Amino acid sequence: MRVPSYSSSAVDTIPTVAPAAPAPEPRFHQRHVETTDTVRKELLDGLAKEQAHISPKFLYDELGSSLFTAITLLDEYYPTRCENEIFAKHSADIVAHAGPVHTLIDLGAGDCAKAERLLAHVRPAQYVPIDISVDYLKAAVKRIADHYPDLEISALGMDFFNDLSLPAEVHAERRAFFYPGSSIGNLPPEQAADLLANIRRQCADGALIIGVDLVKAREILEPAYDDAVGVTAAFNLNMLRHVNKILGSDFNLAQWQHLACFNEARSRMEMHLRARVATTVRWPGGERSFKEGERIHTEDSYKYRPHAFKAMLSRAGFGQIRYWTDEREWFAVFCARA
Ligand code: AVJ
Repeated sequence: MRVPSYSSSAVDTIPTVAPAAPAPEPRFHQRHVETTDTVRKELLDGLAKEQAHISPKFLYDELGSSLFTAITLLDEYYPTRCENEIFAKHSADIVAHAGPVHTLIDLGAGDCAKAERLLAHVRPAQYVPIDISVDYLKAAVKRIADHYPDLEISALGMDFFNDLSLPAEVHAERRAFFYPGSSIGNLPPEQAADLLANIRRQCADGALIIGVDLVKAREILEPAYDDAVGVTAAFNLNMLRHVNKILGSDFNLAQWQHLACFNEARSRMEMHLRARVATTVRWPGGERSFKEGERIHTEDSYKYRPHAFKAMLSRAGFGQIRYWTDEREWFAVFCARA
């Protein structure tokens, strides 16, 4: 049995050159607090609409987040692989275009894996991972703090879709916002433009690095959102299970069918849940009837043409806009300077 050895004299282990002062301990702030009442109200409003809808944020309970991770491994779901290819080939160029970075702000950081690969190139003094709940960030922040002991880290639990105001400890100079994954596609273009303008306002002399999914043939898009294994169908249906937990409703998942279609006129993939039979869903205090074939709209995922996204960035006040694509030009990573 190996016994840990504490025998070497402490004097031997004192380094001869004093190390740089280590960064303070990572800080965690949960700034966004959603009450069950506001969540319930949002769900009930959507279910009461003639065209019922549920926000895509309800896709991500614990099971839903695991299913999304599984989606990224599917043969048909190209965005994650395309984006990885772009960063594997072009990180150095992208980071060079962004210019020197003091603070790297990671929007929707989750497990921080994408930023972690970029950190070695960017070498910021401060790293600010942001997600809806700081709890999601804890394990990753510990890993990164161990790896980069001099990096100052402030993890924030915020709903940056609604409010991007940052606490004073996030240094104002030379910020680079990092928003990979093409989640900006969940917003309608007007709201996406607002988010870009908000980022621009928070970013006086810095840059934005953002992943965007590109318009392509329906034959490629639709299978990416309706895979042969049925993982995306499970991901979409799981939303009803999540809603049942929140509302105490009685959605019967067997009565609902996953649909994914490319709306070419609006340049977006749409996900819906379609009632296989006429059904009434009940919850304490209310109910909603659905005819056979009636749908609940659950997600839009907008696809951009490069020139259109570039125009959106410049309208938001960004300049020096460049983008990189994968070999097939299915996905783009844009880097723009403030
Ligand atoms: C996480 C929003 C980028 O829109 O492609 C995957 C979510 N929906 N399959 C996307 C999703 C269905 C995904 N984003």
